[in-house]
Amino acid sequence: MRLLIVAAAFAGLSSALPTQECCTLLSQLYPTKVYAPDVTAYSTANKRYWSSTCSLKPSCFFEPNTVPEVSAAVKLFSQNNCKFSVTAGGHSTIPGAANNDRGVTVAMVNFQQREIDNSTNIMHLGPGNRFYQAYAEMDKYNKVGVLGRYAQVGTGLLLGAGLSYLNNQEGLGVDNVKAYEVVLANGTVVTASRTSNSDLFKAMKGGGDNFGVVTRYDLQLYDRPATVLGGLITYGEAGMATLEDLTYDYHANVAPNDQQTHVLPNWGYNAATGLREAFVPVFYNKDVSVLPPSLKGWADAPTVKNTVRRTNSISALALENNEGYGNGLVQEQRTFTVYANKQFFHDVNALYLEWSKKYQHIEGFYTLHCNMPITPHAVAEGIRKGGNSLGLAGSKNQTLSVLYFGLSFKNLADTAAVFPAHDEFVESVKKIASDRGILHKYIMWNYSAYNQKVIEGYGPESVAFLKRVSKKYDPTGGFLRLVGGQKLPE
Ligand SMILES: *[C@@H]1O[C@H](CO)[C@@H](O)[C@H](O)[C@H]1NC(C)=O
Ligand SMILES: *[C@@H]1O[C@H](CO)[C@@H](O)[C@H](O)[C@H]1NC(C)=O
Ligand SMILES: *[C@@H]1O[C@H](CO)[C@@H](O)[C@H](O)[C@H]1NC(C)=O
Ligand SMILES: *[C@@H]1O[C@H](CO)[C@@H](O)[C@H](O)[C@H]1NC(C)=O
Repeated sequence: MRLLIVAAAFAGLSSALPTQECCTLLSQLYPTKVYAPDVTAYSTANKRYWSSTCSLKPSCFFEPNTVPEVSAAVKLFSQNNCKFSVTAGGHSTIPGAANNDRGVTVAMVNFQQREIDNSTNIMHLGPGNRFYQAYAEMDKYNKVGVLGRYAQVGTGLLLGAGLSYLNNQEGLGVDNVKAYEVVLANGTVVTASRTSNSDLFKAMKGGGDNFGVVTRYDLQLYDRPATVLGGLITYGEAGMATLEDLTYDYHANVAPNDQQTHVLPNWGYNAATGLREAFVPVFYNKDVSVLPPSLKGWADAPTVKNTVRRTNSISALALENNEGYGNGLVQEQRTFTVYANKQFFHDVNALYLEWSKKYQHIEGFYTLHCNMPITPHAVAEGIRKGGNSLGLAGSKNQTLSVLYFGLSFKNLADTAAVFPAHDEFVESVKKIASDRGILHKYIMWNYSAYNQKVIEGYGPESVAFLKRVSKKYDPTGGFLRLVGGQKLPE
């Protein structure tokens, strides 16, 4: 049964529509922008995905340059029931979310706008940018936005959640979007903001690609000092003993009280060497040369390498974080959320290591575990900035921890052996959290697997709201029927 589910996810949507015809119609409109499987541009587009599970077999790729082109295409898809996908950075690991088999895939790669208004602190960002390019532009102004932390990740994150250097102070990535320019299912282009289509605006902050195609993000930026302190600290086995306690302290005490800090603990297990390593991006948004007492423990633990330095370049930090995460391997991510809990942090880490050791025979097998805080203040910032659809409001006054379980390996052929077992493992630790009374219902979209019910996790009130908004802006359910990935519940 489980194996069948995996197979279905790889096949994209189950009921194939006559999309070869959709590609033909589209290429009549834009002959130079529609790529069939036999041209180089098609294979280039199909290799832009981080996970090899997402390089599928669409009938064609379409690479528009303008908003009217996106509008005409989406209208054509709706009118002809064409299965389609939209890809920006291609970093989701859900097969069928941003690509498909026998459909049309719209690659937003040409939407490269990066425009900063120095006086209003608003950035107009095209969906074709990766975060490296966005940060590089912001660096010129000593400004920073609430984006992802990895250079290669793309703008889809700003529809899902958005863990970032500035979360503790400013809330999630979605909370710092000021407006989305959106192509609706019937091709109409609207702006969604606090003052225009405000229901759509709130829905899209977490509701993802269920409502339209984003052609521009308007982002709130923040002035930052000329230099900040940041870098990557790497630990070997000798450092391990202290890291879980430091992680808990960061969640419970540092993140809530010292909001200019950001720490992202990653535990990796490399089956090829049989070794554990931890690498931890550390960031302090102040013009100082030494870490504050609240972060000192990270540098004092036995380290293998520590690159924390004064820097004027956040793009360089994003690039450094990204090292070793190239395209082309099989990737899978799973996640759930708990109230931060020291004992649980220890237990989960030990259990994941034990589980991972069983797969040393899988070529290139590597697992990664992280715990990432969402503080009560971050939740409150989301509400203050207009609200989102994530269902975090009403959580207890304690820091939440988003737990990440990521695995990668070389060959697609091994997915059948590994993915169902990974699912089973993550559900088993989720059950422990539930038994201990620390489980929270939230499942962060951007770390979710294909069969995790993200939107249900936002709670019934949010689900009902999202359904109303979908009915209003997409009355015939084009995005629900024709686009794969995480969908609104039936
Ligand atoms: C932005 O404005 C500030 C303050 O007026 C000015 O000092 C700075 O040079 C401007 N930056 C750019 C890149 O235009
Ligand atoms: C994040 O989620 C959005 C939908 O909310 C999706 O479009 C995007 O591809 C995801 N990005 C990553 C990096 O998972
Ligand atoms: C939340 O807890 C902190 C201390 O843990 C306290 O300072 C704050 O007042 C509490 N906030 C609310 C809304 O209860
Ligand atoms: C397109 O859909 C929107 C949302 O349902 C609606 O307001 C608008 O009138 C429609 N436009 C056309 C041209 O039908």
